[in-house]
Amino acid sequence: MQLTRSDLMIASAWIDGVAAPATSTKFAVLNPATNIALMHVDDCGTHEAQRAVDAAERALPAWRNTLARERSNLLRRWHALMLENAEDLAQLMSLEQGKPLAEARGEVRYGASFLEWFAEEAVRTNGEIIPETVHGRKLLVVKEPVGIIAAITPWNFPIAMLTRKLAPALAAGCTAVCKPAEDTPLCALALAKLATEAGIPAGVINVVPASRERGIALVGAWLQDKRVRKISFTGSTAVGKYLAERSAATLKRLSLELGGNAPFIVFDDADLDQAVAGLIASKFRNTGQTCVSANRIYVQSGIYDVFADKLAATVNAMQMGPAAPESTATLGPLINSKAVDKVAAHVADAVSHGAHVVTGGERDPQGDNFYRATVLTNATAAMRLAAEETFGPVAALFRFTTEDEVVQLANAADTGLAAYFYSRDLSRIWRVSAALQVGMVGVNEGILSTEVAPFGGIKQSGYGREGSHHGIDEYLNLKYICLGGLAL
Ligand code: SIN
Repeated sequence: MQLTRSDLMIASAWIDGVAAPATSTKFAVLNPATNIALMHVDDCGTHEAQRAVDAAERALPAWRNTLARERSNLLRRWHALMLENAEDLAQLMSLEQGKPLAEARGEVRYGASFLEWFAEEAVRTNGEIIPETVHGRKLLVVKEPVGIIAAITPWNFPIAMLTRKLAPALAAGCTAVCKPAEDTPLCALALAKLATEAGIPAGVINVVPASRERGIALVGAWLQDKRVRKISFTGSTAVGKYLAERSAATLKRLSLELGGNAPFIVFDDADLDQAVAGLIASKFRNTGQTCVSANRIYVQSGIYDVFADKLAATVNAMQMGPAAPESTATLGPLINSKAVDKVAAHVADAVSHGAHVVTGGERDPQGDNFYRATVLTNATAAMRLAAEETFGPVAALFRFTTEDEVVQLANAADTGLAAYFYSRDLSRIWRVSAALQVGMVGVNEGILSTEVAPFGGIKQSGYGREGSHHGIDEYLNLKYICLGGLAL
């Protein structure tokens, strides 16, 4: 693959509107399809973390005082530049993340949609006037930017998860420091450069790449820094808890979008072809590496066998391969060898507890990070994949008998991000939607993400909402002004 703009491949931090070489060593960004280094990028640490906050602090007073319409126009220009450079961004994403090019193109559009949406929301952060309780007073509520925010983003959606945080933050008048995942820093750096080209002032967005080892110290510096007023994180529940604990000393605001372990329920009365299509879309999106991917698939006993056969036939027809422009593959490599080891361990554990491998169940010879799309039947609550997200291309089918039983099983998880179910019974649709303990429900749909709806979970899937008109509230403080002494 060849980028039209090779200058979008940046090997150092982006601070104060320019590439800012660090004094430290470099780390390799690997192509997960080959494990060959694409680039060596500056391995930033606490020094660069501080430089980034210094830049965000300098930029904040002017940025928060721009007119909302000016911020909106700049976000629109950034959106236009993302679309102009969409093919380069998609190729870069396929190379560093491994997802097929068609899927990467879809993520670029999805990521850009947050810039457009929050360009529109920037001008609608209206306050309130509350009816006074005493004559001679006016009670006003205004919304103010939180200040400097830290965006800590994952490798599975390297563009969309960054724009889903930065777009509302910038629209609200905040400035940002960002740490992209160590596996996928290149997309974030390219986006920051495009933001600068769009006219977003120096210091408003600062991106510091770091390896796994140095990243901990880098984020630690932000956790201690009183100037960083908020952290928005997408990633594992374990890291989310760590951030919540460690940010308590400076009482930062937090938005945490954490692990899901989503249940996907197919009732006897479902349209089975629709359910198979929805499951394929949900389970195998990004080769199963999605927080909202179906993980526990509950199929009612009357249709269990026929559903398993239909699913296996569809999975068998799917192609897997490295990202390449002319490829028709819909599955790619997993992000790294640790991810493949986890998938293999989940399958081995399931088989040792009585699961039957209908298709797949083994590594794929195309490369170290490829694992074949897998369908398992006879899954049970005793297996690791019932309690933990597999985060890979494994569809494990659990059998259930009654609605009450499956709702209880679905809600048994500690997490509560998304759930899906297929049914044609309207009363059941309302009942089950209400009973599921999650932040998002897909009814007869396997993909529910969109910039216009609130994305987020409950329980140990975290708190806060991204996207929708609620998303900008995460970056705004309410200020109440009691205006007294008025002679009215
Ligand atoms: C995620 O995996 O956390 C994001 C997926 C999405 O936005 O649909």
